[in-house]
Amino acid sequence: MKRVTEIAPGIHYVGANDRTKHRFEGLWPLPHGVSYNAYLIDDERVALIDTIDAAFTERLLGSIREVIGDRPVDYLIINHMEPDHSASIHAVRQAWPEITIVGNAKTLQMVEGFYGIGPVGSGAALEAGMLTVADGDTLSLGVRELSFHLIPMVHWPETMVTYCAQDRLVFSGDAFGTFGALDGGVTDVQLDAWRQTSYFPDEMVRYYSNIVGKYGGPVQRAIEKLRPLLPLAMVCPTHGPVWTSHAFPAVLDLYDRMSRYEPLEKGVVIAYGSMYGNTEQTAERLARELAARGVRRIAMHNLSSSHASFVLRDIFKYNALVIGSPTYNMNLYPEVQALIDDIELRGIPAGGRVFGCFGGFTWAGAAVKKLTEFAGRMGWELAAPPVEVKQGSTPAKTDSCADLAEAISVG
Ligand code: FEO
Repeated sequence: MKRVTEIAPGIHYVGANDRTKHRFEGLWPLPHGVSYNAYLIDDERVALIDTIDAAFTERLLGSIREVIGDRPVDYLIINHMEPDHSASIHAVRQAWPEITIVGNAKTLQMVEGFYGIGPVGSGAALEAGMLTVADGDTLSLGVRELSFHLIPMVHWPETMVTYCAQDRLVFSGDAFGTFGALDGGVTDVQLDAWRQTSYFPDEMVRYYSNIVGKYGGPVQRAIEKLRPLLPLAMVCPTHGPVWTSHAFPAVLDLYDRMSRYEPLEKGVVIAYGSMYGNTEQTAERLARELAARGVRRIAMHNLSSSHASFVLRDIFKYNALVIGSPTYNMNLYPEVQALIDDIELRGIPAGGRVFGCFGGFTWAGAAVKKLTEFAGRMGWELAAPPVEVKQGSTPAKTDSCADLAEAISVG
């Protein structure tokens, strides 16, 4: 058995799994780990597509040597410069000093800025081991020809994809990536990655909503650029499974809908803060009223314990969102404020979505007013008047949850 997975004849997976990092980007929990994917094309000339996180550099170099032995790597093609993919550039260049680093002008400026490797050329000139490529440029490896397609702001300005026409295969950078380590297999078929009980579909929504969610427009433009290349045999992202023609149509559809900010299914997110349980009681009442009206997908998030990344995932996924907050220092509860900041940052439009809110206070109410103002800034209409409770949240004080639930369940 080969010790390095060959995903297609002459194309090898040389990435690594990270099952110990606590938080991706210092922010996002990784309950199923994450993979950093890099690929090696063993042609007349050898090309490495992206590198991997600094913690796994030795594994990358070892996998490459396993495939090509003493032959050199001729090209390092950089689709994306974020350090989880670029941090091993220095080590790769030290291992194969004659290597040519290939990227667009923005990429190569970042190579110099992050790693002090330059000078940077311009046009398609080969100089000082750097090759600058523009949109549509090609590079021959001997048998295969690669072409480069710029997809700026998915989710950095330098992002591009590399296409191999002979294999009908795209190396897509972070596009179509997902959290989740690769347990043994590499392709979606090997991992059975697109089944309902797999963690990849949900982790893809969480990855997209948190990392890429702000950039729906650029993702739409990237998808349009990709369409003439369809159908593809394989799409090779920098995180998660390699998508074959088996699952890629579903993955593309998911990305298309998420980047249009289209809800993926009917369901209600109830996201709330609560100090002593009164606002939580209102949330529970609302959830029961929804369930009584036949709503079967209700995602309850107490924001003191649910990490924002899971809440954002569910907000992208479901068509209804209700936010609740106690009044805290004449403002929103801090965890609720953080959530609405996250939502505003991603600019989620109203289309196809239903919104409601509720709140509590002890002597002067501010939370409901702040949530209503937030809805106004987002251009979201309230499905029903907010539910506002003074002091203890008793059943009698939360009866108007029934009106809110009714409005949402028919929305
Ligand atoms: Fe996986 Fe944008 O880095």
